[in-house]
Amino acid sequence: MVRILFVCLGNICRSPMAEFVMKDIVKKNGLEDEFYIASAATCREQIGNPVHYGTKNKLSEFNISVEGKYAVQLTKQDYNKYDYIIGMDDMNIKNINKIIGNDPDKKVHKLLEFAGSYADIADPWYTGDFDTAYNDIVKGCKGLFEKLSDRTQYYCR
Ligand code: 4NP
Repeated sequence: MVRILFVCLGNICRSPMAEFVMKDIVKKNGLEDEFYIASAATCREQIGNPVHYGTKNKLSEFNISVEGKYAVQLTKQDYNKYDYIIGMDDMNIKNINKIIGNDPDKKVHKLLEFAGSYADIADPWYTGDFDTAYNDIVKGCKGLFEKLSDRTQYYCR
């Protein structure tokens, strides 16, 4: 079982998008039992709120539902619950490190690392561009899946 927590600032735009894109990839590969995937915010601003309609609408184009997801905040305890804690941009990584304290097991990563890039996932809360966020998030999630499926001897179909 691989446990992955995606993290952004508000947990209503990018990290839930990554959560449900990754769940979709895993499901399409028949590996739901091998993964536990969730998402969280670094800030308190949106706690309890549903996924932003921009993310919801974009994912609905691909028949991906975000039903039942409400924003939660990252906690220090999450460090032990997850194998991967994946932020969207450099500010997220700084805030994640503030909450968890330190990262002895090197669990904290930025999503596009898995696509071989140092780039951030630009925040559509500010840019309004959910298409770019989606395209970049898919790149990162596919890269992550390929890395993990190598590890578990499965292949990205
Ligand atoms: P997210 O976008 O981090 O991708 O969920 C944001 C959503 C809400 C806020 C900031 C970023 N906010 O300040 O409320």
